[in-house]
Amino acid sequence: MSDMFDMSEADAANRLMRLAKEIAKHNRLYHTQDAPEISDADYDALVRENNALEAQFPHLIRADSPNKLVGAAPAGHLTKITHAKPMLSLDNAFADEDVVDFVGRVRRFLNLADDAEVVLTAEPKIDGLSCSLRYEGGTLVMAATRGDGQVGEDVTANVRTIADIPQQIAGNIPDVFEVRGEVYMSKSDFDAINARAEAEGTKLFANPRNAAAGSLRQKDAKITAARPLRFLAHGWGEATSLPGETQFDVIKTIESWGLPVDPRFVRLNATSQVLAHYRSIEALRADLPFDIDGVVYKVDRLDWQARLGFVAKAPRWAIAHKFPAERAETTLESIDIQVGRTGKLTPVGRLKPVTVGGVVVSNVTLHNRDEIARLGVRPGDRVVVQRAGDVIPQIVETLTRDAERDAWAFPDHCPECGSEAVAEEGEVDVRCTGGLICPAQRVERLKHFVSRAALDIEGLGERTIVEFFGLGWLHSPADIFRLRQRRAEIVGREGWQDKSVDNLLAAIETKRAPDPARLVFALGIRHVGAVTAKDLLKAFGTVERVREVATGDGAMEELTQVDGVGPVVAEALVEFFHEAHNQEVWNDLLSEVTPPAFVANVRESVVSGKTVVFTGSLETMSRDEAKAQAESLGAKTAGSVSAKTDLLVAGPGAGSKLKKAQELGIEVIDEAAWAQIVANAG
Ligand code: IVH
Repeated sequence: MSDMFDMSEADAANRLMRLAKEIAKHNRLYHTQDAPEISDADYDALVRENNALEAQFPHLIRADSPNKLVGAAPAGHLTKITHAKPMLSLDNAFADEDVVDFVGRVRRFLNLADDAEVVLTAEPKIDGLSCSLRYEGGTLVMAATRGDGQVGEDVTANVRTIADIPQQIAGNIPDVFEVRGEVYMSKSDFDAINARAEAEGTKLFANPRNAAAGSLRQKDAKITAARPLRFLAHGWGEATSLPGETQFDVIKTIESWGLPVDPRFVRLNATSQVLAHYRSIEALRADLPFDIDGVVYKVDRLDWQARLGFVAKAPRWAIAHKFPAERAETTLESIDIQVGRTGKLTPVGRLKPVTVGGVVVSNVTLHNRDEIARLGVRPGDRVVVQRAGDVIPQIVETLTRDAERDAWAFPDHCPECGSEAVAEEGEVDVRCTGGLICPAQRVERLKHFVSRAALDIEGLGERTIVEFFGLGWLHSPADIFRLRQRRAEIVGREGWQDKSVDNLLAAIETKRAPDPARLVFALGIRHVGAVTAKDLLKAFGTVERVREVATGDGAMEELTQVDGVGPVVAEALVEFFHEAHNQEVWNDLLSEVTPPAFVANVRESVVSGKTVVFTGSLETMSRDEAKAQAESLGAKTAGSVSAKTDLLVAGPGAGSKLKKAQELGIEVIDEAAWAQIVANAG
């Protein structure tokens, strides 16, 4: 950041544009997808860089400046709710001086003497997600997530399943009172949930915060009910009257109404007390039952809060004093290179295992060639590893600085197939040029082909792909559809029985007429994600037409006319379909599968986005017809009942699937009720 002061205006504008995009992306990953890719500390560093640049070049502040937004827009599937009062965010303090500055700013704003007493409340900053609970006449009538601060998501039904949150509050309650606080998951509940997910082979959550967010933002409140969520109140929104004149008194009153408040919520009157309190909470941190990432201070007097008001997204009367990320020293034992689906070489650091903030870390991502050069790290070096209470740990510093040894040379050949590995101009990533000759790329592409967002072939997981690939049974996706010729060979292998092989082959057969957009996505063309694939099908109707356009004259013009397709995507498509071996793979695949034309409008219904299982005999239709109906309503169908099942349609003679669904608390309906859902669909 030091060279920022030498920056030209053009560079600053460019950097601000990149920061806006980068920060927006991480906001989306964190708030909407519950899948952060960088640590909080790194996120904060981006925000600080942005703010420093904005301060230096105020005329360059962008319309989409990260400071004008709170969090990210709500995810699509829940009903949106406009908050009666916006749900704000907090500014951060990192060093003690930042807290002193904060108090100084408060004094100046209020025109107080330099030594005037400013009483603050202090409480842990809980690493959860904020939620607004609206009580009318003492009855809980609505609950919403923060969303982008203005518009959140309706999670009323989900919140009703949280035991900490009373449906009724008694006492002298204002007509309307919105309690605001944090929904979170305790560390021990998080560990238990992930242990279960691991045993069941389902997706693990990255951290308790993501587990809480993923659990709360469910369309089906039954799933939320099965997750151990907790709540702590730390504020309020709309209120027809306030039961006190200070932050402390109002929060204590909310507590007396039966809402949980953290026992470490205190009122302090001198900056020295505040800082001592911060140290004591920091010392307690590891032993607290839930993750916290700092201490929040708020000006206690509400009349002062009202005068101080807000700037952009955060109040002037509150600040979050963040804890530093947790760090530890260890040795980098080796650097391995992983080759991904698109040939990208990703360096992974193998560490002498070390405990960082209570978690044993033995691998770190080193991102790319530039990152290794930046750190100047080599195998054998002592390094500092940082874990910021979440996501992937990383190396932040190399301690060994002997000039004796050479820098580690990033490979210029693919470690898997020996092909040349190069970085395209202007790109940091080094890629293997072996394409489909490279076994690593081939196996990764096959894994992608069968993955959940692509063809989603039940029972054909990554392990099986690797196993069959190793046996030489799978070269390209079409081979998956020829596995039935190997039935006897598969049954002969350890871990496979007649039944499991039949289930697998049956699951493969169900994909002979795959969704065309999923099929295009499954090809793993660079830059063509699930949404782009859908855009292409929406525009061109069939997979064959997509290929025709991409190989025809004027491909670039025609492709870039599609909403959502820019030159980078168009070029990737043209390149893909021109490549001779891709053409072979494609033709071979189309000799096995017959994707139907794209159906633009899947009808909206109560089962859209859900997973439905049919069992027992159906009287008015075939099983296939029922499944097709479900799919036309935007639902997924599966052959067996699992924790992922949302609805079981059971006809007469239903047996084990029905029993399992009942055990898992999954909704079960009969054929007539199913017909009703189909009839009611929009
Ligand atoms: S007060 C207007 N207090 O941190 C003030 N927030 O980084 C709004 N958070 O959106 C927030 N613990 O989700 C407050 N004790 C606490 C908190 C807390 C966690 C979260 C909250 C907020 C975010 C801002």
